[in-house]
Amino acid sequence: MTKGLLNGKKGIVFGALNDKSIAWQVALKAHNEGASLVLTNTPVALRLGTLGELAEQTGSKIISADATSMEELGILFKESMDHFGGKIDFVLHSIGMSPNVRKGIPYPDISYENMLKTLDISALSFHRILQTAWKTDAINEWGSVVALSYVAAQRTLAGYNDMGDAKALLESIARSFGYIYGKHRKVRVNTISQSPTPTTAGSGISGFETLTDFSDRMSPLGNATAEECADYCIVLFSDMTRKVTMQNLFHDGGFSSMGMSRRAIEQYTKSFDECP
Ligand SMILES: NC(=O)c1ccc[n+]([C@@H]2O[C@H](COP(=O)([O-])OP(=O)(O)OC[C@H]3O[C@@H](n4cnc5c(N)ncnc54)[C@H](O)[C@@H]3O)[C@@H](O)[C@H]2O)c1
Repeated sequence: MTKGLLNGKKGIVFGALNDKSIAWQVALKAHNEGASLVLTNTPVALRLGTLGELAEQTGSKIISADATSMEELGILFKESMDHFGGKIDFVLHSIGMSPNVRKGIPYPDISYENMLKTLDISALSFHRILQTAWKTDAINEWGSVVALSYVAAQRTLAGYNDMGDAKALLESIARSFGYIYGKHRKVRVNTISQSPTPTTAGSGISGFETLTDFSDRMSPLGNATAEECADYCIVLFSDMTRKVTMQNLFHDGGFSSMGMSRRAIEQYTKSFDECP
């Protein structure tokens, strides 16, 4: 059931790789709610992924850009505005990658060269996108920018490695740029802290299935799916949330406020019986 929440709005969606991607679900829902879209990802992701299918389904234009390149971001925003014939209304940053996680290097041993890449791709890219939009005055008043985060920004979760540091920086950038963008251009900037979700990036985290199960047992409402995360993004892009900015918004079934749940106690006790 669609409500036309984004009728007439134009947006850029970063980070749809395949139909598991959270950004993929966001693009589908944004299209169904009446938005026009530019879809973007790195040239490699365009080759390896299936973004063409999404563009066909949503009538969107694809423009490739590496979100760590100011030059490519400049071209992306210029071409997007040319394509739409004007400014845009929303941006989704759905980008994350850690070479340390990918190579299975434990946190105390991480390579700083890798860590700089993690921070650049997963967090500074958000600043780069905001800076490019700011300098080209690409976003309409009451526009909305959303990035996807994870509770590892506040709490330590084994195996999340330097991505926890990247998410902490990402959320801080939303506050710092959110102040400037809100005050001068009436544009809001927020992060959504999403439950573990079975995607290409998510599944790269060591122990991901166990983490997902634990998180689900701990959350009174259970883990939030990619589709549900997309619903929340749509509300944040819509005019229903014009005064929400500089926030990290948990979309995790209640996980972030829990200490111990009955379901987790039961499972933990069972494990004790099995392993005295
Ligand atoms: N999956 C989860 O459990 C989970 C939970 C909370 C938050 N998130 C966040 O959601 C976001 C989307 O991840 P996902 O789970 O949908 O996985 P995904 O693998 O589908 O998406 C990650 C995307 O980042 C893109 N990317 C990587 N390097 C890039 C670069 N240099 N420039 C532009 N794009 C680049 C990839 O091509 C890919 O499309 C990430 O920020 C991730 O950290 C995921």
